[in-house]
Amino acid sequence: MYLDFACGSTRCVILIGQYAIKIARFRPLRPFIKLFESIQKKQVRGNLEKHHRNPLLAVIKYLLAGIVANRTEYRLYKKYKSDLLAPTVFTIFWLVNIQRRGEPVVDERVKSHYLWNLFQGMETTVALDILQAKQFCFMGGCVRLADYGIDGLEFAIAEYPGNKTPW
Ligand SMILES: Nc1ncnc2c1ncn2[C@@H]1O[C@H](COP(=O)(O)OP(=O)(O)O)[C@@H](O)[C@H]1O
Ligand SMILES: [Mg+2]
Repeated sequence: MYLDFACGSTRCVILIGQYAIKIARFRPLRPFIKLFESIQKKQVRGNLEKHHRNPLLAVIKYLLAGIVANRTEYRLYKKYKSDLLAPTVFTIFWLVNIQRRGEPVVDERVKSHYLWNLFQGMETTVALDILQAKQFCFMGGCVRLADYGIDGLEFAIAEYPGNKTPW
């Protein structure tokens, strides 16, 4: 069993043995920093709308982004059991998710992933989020997406022909 740590934009991850323990981060100051940046760039409305049409819900969603991501990952894996995804096996009120651990993808193999190819060339927020090797991991002989707590991804997973095969 070996121990490692990683941090993403919304969660801190403890990698222990076969599991990745994904703990929601709270970023109380970050919404204000972002708001300040958006005011400077005169993009307040556009940036808020990326999170929700209602500005108040957008701020709340941004604050709780780690919990939202954990909830999305738990829900999507439970619903599709997709081979595309690193299995999320358990959640503690979406504050902490337990996922199967993979190895970092350090080479070209990430390009074999269905979602990598699907989003290739797109410039949407989802595509920019997905198209980073650190969001994927290598597990059981193939590449899987580890970070799927992303809004706007479900349609792509739902359409994938290889769903509902048991892990
Ligand atoms: N299942 C996993 N196996 C191995 N490493 C993982 C796994 N899930 C996440 N990680 C590592 O933790 C980092 C942050 O996790 P991620 O799911 O991307 O969270 P965030 O939503 O905060 O970006 C990833 O970039 C990766 O290095
Ligand atoms: Mg990530």
